[in-house]
Amino acid sequence: MTEQTYLTLNDGNKIPQFGLWVWQVESDAATYSVEDGPQGRIPTHRHRGSLQERRGRRRGYPRGGSRSTRPLRDDKALERAAGLWRNAHCLGRSLDRLQLEYVDLFLIHWPSPHRGLYVDSWRALVELQKNGKARSIGVSNFEPEHLARIIDATGVTPAINQIELHPRFQQRRLRDYNRDLGILTQSWSPLGQGQLLTDATIETIAQKHGKTAAQVIIRWHVENGLVVIPKSVNANRIAENFDVFDFALDAEDMSRLEKLDSTEGRIGPNPLTATF
Ligand code: A2P
Repeated sequence: MTEQTYLTLNDGNKIPQFGLWVWQVESDAATYSVEDGPQGRIPTHRHRGSLQERRGRRRGYPRGGSRSTRPLRDDKALERAAGLWRNAHCLGRSLDRLQLEYVDLFLIHWPSPHRGLYVDSWRALVELQKNGKARSIGVSNFEPEHLARIIDATGVTPAINQIELHPRFQQRRLRDYNRDLGILTQSWSPLGQGQLLTDATIETIAQKHGKTAAQVIIRWHVENGLVVIPKSVNANRIAENFDVFDFALDAEDMSRLEKLDSTEGRIGPNPLTATF
């Protein structure tokens, strides 16, 4: 198994291109994922300060190999509090649970434009980074209009925009927009929540390279300069998913994969219309 690659964020920090998605993974399975990542080198990108991550740490999982990412999701109770307090409180609770002084990356989970809070939330994240509680700050599911507003309001550009992205929903326009602003794009549901694993085109490319469909898809993300965070609770599949740094897709493969893009490909909520 070869070493994975790192990308440099617009704040100078580095991020591994491959990480584990552990939101919605049951506690015990997540502990297992965190501890059993190949040689402890797979970073976790999780949504909640969690008992299982603390357990992983107690058992010696090294800080240096981990990236703790915390998306923030406004809920009704928190909405009543002021922006900075709310975000600091939310992050503070996560840090307590993780027994950490800071997180590597803190994200706003959804813009939820109907709430009218995301600009204030972003101001708060800027403060938290200044206070050393988050080394990097970014957003998730932000469309160009949301990005433009927070940058205009603060002068600070997010390091990352984490969005739904897979070969059936390639988000080229938003990727280009991110890239032009110096924002790295991170792909959530990179395997299309597993739905792409039986796609005939992908299977054919996989056979050609002696790889699995999952590895071809993850390699496609890597070659597109994306940060990719597939979810799996199975140790063998986690190792398989990580084992993508010893082969390359050629131009013909890439062109066939590009053709899988579909306007109907979105699986998750649309950030412009989601009502949470
Ligand atoms: P499991 O957790 O049982 O391994 P996504 O990351 O796009 O959301 O996709 C996650 C889904 O894909 C999960 O159902 C996961 O199942 C499945 N999955 C992840 N990696 C693999 C793999 N290498 N082979 C088959 N299924 C996989």
